[in-house]
Amino acid sequence: MKVICVFGTRPEAIKMAPIVKELKRREHIDTVVAVTAQHREMLDQVLKIFDIEPDYDMNIFKSGQSLTDITVGALKGLEEILNEEKPDVLLIQGDTTTVFASAVAAFYRQIKIGHVEAGLRSDNLYSPYPEEANRRLTSVLANFHFAPTKSNRDNLIREGYDESKVYITGNTVIDALKYAVSQNYEFEEDILNKIDYQNKRVVLLTSHRRENIGKPMEQIFSAVRDVVEEYDDVEVVFPIHLNPKVREIAKKVFEGKDKIHIIEPLDYLPFSNLMNKVHLVITDSGGIQEEAPALGKPVIVVREETERMEGVLANTAVLVGSDYDKLYKHFKELLDDENKYKEMAHAINPYGDGHAATKIIDILEKELGN
Ligand code: UD1
Ligand code: UDP
Repeated sequence: MKVICVFGTRPEAIKMAPIVKELKRREHIDTVVAVTAQHREMLDQVLKIFDIEPDYDMNIFKSGQSLTDITVGALKGLEEILNEEKPDVLLIQGDTTTVFASAVAAFYRQIKIGHVEAGLRSDNLYSPYPEEANRRLTSVLANFHFAPTKSNRDNLIREGYDESKVYITGNTVIDALKYAVSQNYEFEEDILNKIDYQNKRVVLLTSHRRENIGKPMEQIFSAVRDVVEEYDDVEVVFPIHLNPKVREIAKKVFEGKDKIHIIEPLDYLPFSNLMNKVHLVITDSGGIQEEAPALGKPVIVVREETERMEGVLANTAVLVGSDYDKLYKHFKELLDDENKYKEMAHAINPYGDGHAATKIIDILEKELGN
């Protein structure tokens, strides 16, 4: 059996890494790794940590490129690779434009598609944008749907997908997290070592969603800035996305605020271990919404909708959107109300037992082995 794994951004690489590792352990499977490099530095950071050397690097990255550029670059690059490799199945993960373009490329060659992290739905095509559409379009073309949770599976069944091809596997994000986080982890980064995690309440902030860029992100950052000003013992660490639009807004809102530490994107090991040490998390990220609850960290989700309701329903995440007043209120509440904080700071992990990659490949072997 020949399997090609295709990915292009940081979160896909993190969540595909356990699958690539497991595939390579199985000697009778021929594994090919192709990266679009929709991200460059942020992808390479992950490849290095998991020690993955791609067989193909399409190197489509151009700073500030449009969704069309990414789609065209990936589609063209993959056409050649798929013609050359003729794999039995293509594995893709999640909802990025790399994923959508890869699904189309495989469909054009009539190559079977396994979709990892299938069935998440926000039910608003424009939020997250364009991810909700990317994920739905990929479902249409996929042959095997690997749903992390039961509710993800239910979404697919409701949409009419063949039940026998929808599997609940857990999310490989937990496989990766188990590998990365350890209680005695020591940072190599000076800035992370200087922070007093015992006596300060450290807040981890990340934000990059396209639909937040502009006024919503400005409101989010302003609310964070204004709350932090009011508390001597609260500091923020913000490993900032490389998107220049995010950087511009952060510079405008946070300039001169020395309790808000803006740092470069962290490698996955220091990042996930930092998450394990902080007091709470404010984010619009998808992956971080899965990781923080697993580590028992309350999450304020600065998005209008989420396709990851499991954390919200278990009361470890609260969905506040990008409204200044709402975020200001919820953030302060979590700082002032100890009971509320404690209620939210319990570890839940609806996303699997850390063996999702093994399950996914077992299923593929059963389906395609002969
Ligand atoms: C992409 C995905 C999003 C995912 C996110 C994870 C799409 C449409 N979006 O969004 O689903 O949540 O990745 O981070 O697929 N940049 C660099 N170097 C890098 C990476 C990004 O300079 O290594 C800058 C570039 O200017 C680039 C911009 O960030 O143009 C945005 O990157 P892009 O991949 O278009 O979108 P993301 O917002 O990263
Ligand atoms: N992450 C990282 N370094 C950082 C920020 C995030 O390694 O500085 C990891 C994080 O642990 C998670 C993933 O990147 O696994 C999330 O990526 P991102 O928020 O960019 O994308 P999303 O999950 O929203 O698609």
